[in-house]
Amino acid sequence: MTTYAFSTESPADVDAGLLILPVFEGGDPGPGVRETGLRDAFGAAKLTGKKGETLLVTGRDRVGDRDGAGGRDGAGFAAGAALLVGVGPKAEFDVTALRRALGRAAGTARRFGSAATTFPLALGARHATDAVQAAAEGLGLGAYRFRRYKTTPQDDDGSLETVTILGSAKWDARAARDAVARADVLVDAVTLARDLVNTPAGDLPPAEIAKVAKAMAKQEGIACTIWNEMQLAQGGFGGILGVGKGSINPPRMIELTYRGAGARTAPIALTGKGIAFDSGGLSLKDASGMETMKMDMGGAASILGTMKAIARLKVKINVIAAIPCSENMPSGSAQKPGDVITHRGGKTSEVLNTDAEGRLVLADALAYLAEHDPVCIVDTATLTGACMVALGTDVGGAIGTSDEVAGELIRASEATGEPIWQLPLFPDYRTLIDSKVADIKNIGKRYGGAITASWFLAEFVGDTPWVHLDIAGPAYSEHGNDLGPAGGTGMPVRTLVRFLQDRAGARKR
Ligand code: BES
Ligand code: MN
Ligand code: ZN
Repeated sequence: MTTYAFSTESPADVDAGLLILPVFEGGDPGPGVRETGLRDAFGAAKLTGKKGETLLVTGRDRVGDRDGAGGRDGAGFAAGAALLVGVGPKAEFDVTALRRALGRAAGTARRFGSAATTFPLALGARHATDAVQAAAEGLGLGAYRFRRYKTTPQDDDGSLETVTILGSAKWDARAARDAVARADVLVDAVTLARDLVNTPAGDLPPAEIAKVAKAMAKQEGIACTIWNEMQLAQGGFGGILGVGKGSINPPRMIELTYRGAGARTAPIALTGKGIAFDSGGLSLKDASGMETMKMDMGGAASILGTMKAIARLKVKINVIAAIPCSENMPSGSAQKPGDVITHRGGKTSEVLNTDAEGRLVLADALAYLAEHDPVCIVDTATLTGACMVALGTDVGGAIGTSDEVAGELIRASEATGEPIWQLPLFPDYRTLIDSKVADIKNIGKRYGGAITASWFLAEFVGDTPWVHLDIAGPAYSEHGNDLGPAGGTGMPVRTLVRFLQDRAGARKR
């Protein structure tokens, strides 16, 4: 657990294991560089401030440390070491670049146990609160590690116990402290989502996901109901059950109700794909296609993280979430290509490919949520490889019936640095999922797979404004990125929270 603080101490005096200072391209020293006597160190190391450059100055080679015993005599710094970080041209430096630069520095910060940074001062007073929040987020997210299954010491063992964000005494200290507290909550929520994604499917069947959800809800004061197999059957959730039929681990649906606004305020509805493991079912994936499929509950995990965060932030909004959890396995009891299932609400679908299972479980949840007359529905799902073909591994797709909600989500994603791009729900493609035997079929043609999958989902939302976020790429990072190691990323927790905060009018943008 990391403790976060905001402080207006001088960078030279701040007590921290590691002091992290920005340097702009062209050698323009960022805040704190001159005050600590480190101005020449960067140039002497033949560095120019290009993005990605770093220079670690340890206590021993402390500039101005005349007696060599540490402490501040003349220019110098009280921190154990200083890390100078190139951030590129000043004109291109923004909140997202700040968050990412500190995410990269977090690995080094872990070794020192505590860190302080002047980074927010590089952006000026206008961005103070956002920059303070982003700085704490970057360090917290970047310091994440998943060590549950490691039994031997790792090179980068250690932990970031305290993070101190340095700012100006002219800034609103209360707003800055709130920003740091928000970051703390968000890092915690993202950590929950990442841990769930990183936990092997063998240890996290649907019932276990539900258990984690229940415990989280209890802790945060969110109402939680777990639907078991029998209740799902009684409720007509044929998609969740059909997908789960081949597994010995029975499905569940997690229902969460958060009330942050008046009882008469209509809720926002959320759902996320919770496939504990996606083998493809009888339409079996090949070995390499299955390697990462413990991550197919990344949508569900992100909704759990989002609910935890909004409860802790006391966002003034009502939210209902229904999260379908099934395991997609082949067996004698598995659903078969050609089977017809009846979804919640009565619509039927022909299952031509059992590997297109996400839409089957989401259909039930969407239909159920639409019954609650929500203002809008947002779902998030590791739904299609086709979306990764379209947008690559790092960008999520947004497709739906409401350009307004999609626009809000995309603006939120720009603020959080979790890239999302809108794709069209192109009307002509609706007929691609016409079925000869049922109302619709669960696959289209070869091309446009992210859109045909969305048309399938659209069948279940009625008139409710709805946006689907396809996170097949960004939910999981094969090699890690600036904000975290390889594995679950927790995307799009921070975007969804920001979206809900904006909706609640809690933040002006
Ligand atoms: N969970 C997969 C999508 C996926 C693929 C997520 C790779 C992350 C990485 C999904 O259930 C799936 O198998 N989709 C199929 C759909 C097809 C059968 C219509 C796909 O994308 O190939
Ligand atoms: Mn699949
Ligand atoms: Zn899947």
